[in-house]
Amino acid sequence: MEKIIEESKQGDSLVLEYKPENVKKLYIESYGCAMNFSDSEIVASILSENGFNTTQVMEEADLVLVNTCSIRDKAEQTIRKRLEKYNAVKRAKNPKMKVGVLGCMAERLKSQFLEEEKIVDLVVGPDAYKDLPNLLAEVEEGRDAINVILSKEETYGDISPVRLMSNGITAFVSITRGCDNMCTFCVVPFTRGRERSREPQSIINEIQDLSDRGYKEVTLLGQNVDSYLWYGGGLKKDFVNATEMQKATAVNFDQLLEMTAVAFPKMRIRFSTSNPQDMHESILHVIAKHPNICKHIHLPVQSGSDRILKEMNRLHTREEYKDLINKVYSIIPDCAVTQDMISGFPTETEEDHQDTLSLMEYVKYSFGYMFAYSERPGTLAGRKMEDDVPEETKLRRLQEIVDLQQKHSLIRSQEFIGKTVEVLIEKISKKSAEEFSGRNSQNVTVVFPKENYKIGDFVNVKITSCTSGTLKGEAIGLSDMN
Ligand code: SAH
Ligand code: F3S
Repeated sequence: MEKIIEESKQGDSLVLEYKPENVKKLYIESYGCAMNFSDSEIVASILSENGFNTTQVMEEADLVLVNTCSIRDKAEQTIRKRLEKYNAVKRAKNPKMKVGVLGCMAERLKSQFLEEEKIVDLVVGPDAYKDLPNLLAEVEEGRDAINVILSKEETYGDISPVRLMSNGITAFVSITRGCDNMCTFCVVPFTRGRERSREPQSIINEIQDLSDRGYKEVTLLGQNVDSYLWYGGGLKKDFVNATEMQKATAVNFDQLLEMTAVAFPKMRIRFSTSNPQDMHESILHVIAKHPNICKHIHLPVQSGSDRILKEMNRLHTREEYKDLINKVYSIIPDCAVTQDMISGFPTETEEDHQDTLSLMEYVKYSFGYMFAYSERPGTLAGRKMEDDVPEETKLRRLQEIVDLQQKHSLIRSQEFIGKTVEVLIEKISKKSAEEFSGRNSQNVTVVFPKENYKIGDFVNVKITSCTSGTLKGEAIGLSDMN
């Protein structure tokens, strides 16, 4: 899965290469989106330069860090339960253990954490990870430490993240941080700050390093990748004040994606997430032109109703979205499109919900992430709109959306039967040690007998059967991407 880290990995602890000179032990857990998992690698990298080895045994840790998610109330409740667990360990087994909260919940709740959750010693927002060594020094001296300052510049472009929680084949590379879109339901602009882009050369260098170490696929990550704009640093919103020279030499997402595809012809390039209002036809031509750019666009729409889209401050209409979809399918005929949907946004009527279902029928998404609306304090919808759709209605509508998606996923999967697709082998299949598992360009999981292939190979696989989420087939040879 591309954007949201799969359920089984939520809360995974990260393990780094052991450095004998490091004497302290760090236990770090991550929740939420790919950006958080990627940030934890940056944090681990900073701390491994500052005396820490990682451990997977919380009971023996000197420092426990949890990288948190605020996107829905449920995500925050999960973290609260984890904090209770750390507290129990601290009391019963390891009184010297320090606990730090990182990420979006740290940013949202700030010092409230130190006041309410007595076990928390350290609160660090998503733009302050480089300050961790200083903050830890404060904690060592017995003081609570907090840094939740959001930055105009920070992209961590100069930190090379450690990669040891990955499969050695696919990696995330952050290209933008923050978001300027202000969708009225969304807490991200508040927790991750204003949008800024990372210097292209540092992105290319990071991918080069990954390539040198045998990685075969990167996913360029951002809240809104199509809005990427490098003009020498600074916030996207300040581009209007850039000098003529900066404007003339600026790099946009089309250019970055093309640059990456050309520089690394033997690597697969993915990107996520695209926002419909920022995605232009030009990018579709870039995707169509380069075989190593995966034919998959994650294009969340949230609702199919014009009225709700407006209330959500999504800056496009249903018709405009359909036009964009038409362009996608005409310029890149084999492209998979995936969605995010929210059911039960305030004031959503049965008719609005039907509009969502009919838009889904129109697009026939390959896959989706679907959620019941969760009011977030501080957002515009949270402040100005009553959360007036009853929970059971939200859940019933959500189920209808999920059921329809399931049907469409199956249709999309069936389209591959009889076809040959290129698969990058990522791992041994969970279900059978005799089979490999990987993904095709459209981001669908493909499972097939191992034969003599190995992890990291690009293999052409003839698809013989499927479920809604998985294709099955047989390898017919290595592809020319090797
Ligand atoms: N642009 C981001 C979106 C991050 S949030 C990206 O990189 O994907 C991921 C998804 O969570 C959103 O697309 C939306 O469908 C869902 N979401 C966000 N806020 C929500 C809320 N308050 N209630 C329910 N779902 C929400
Ligand atoms: Fe959130 Fe909308 Fe940005 S969903 S992350 S405010 S594009």
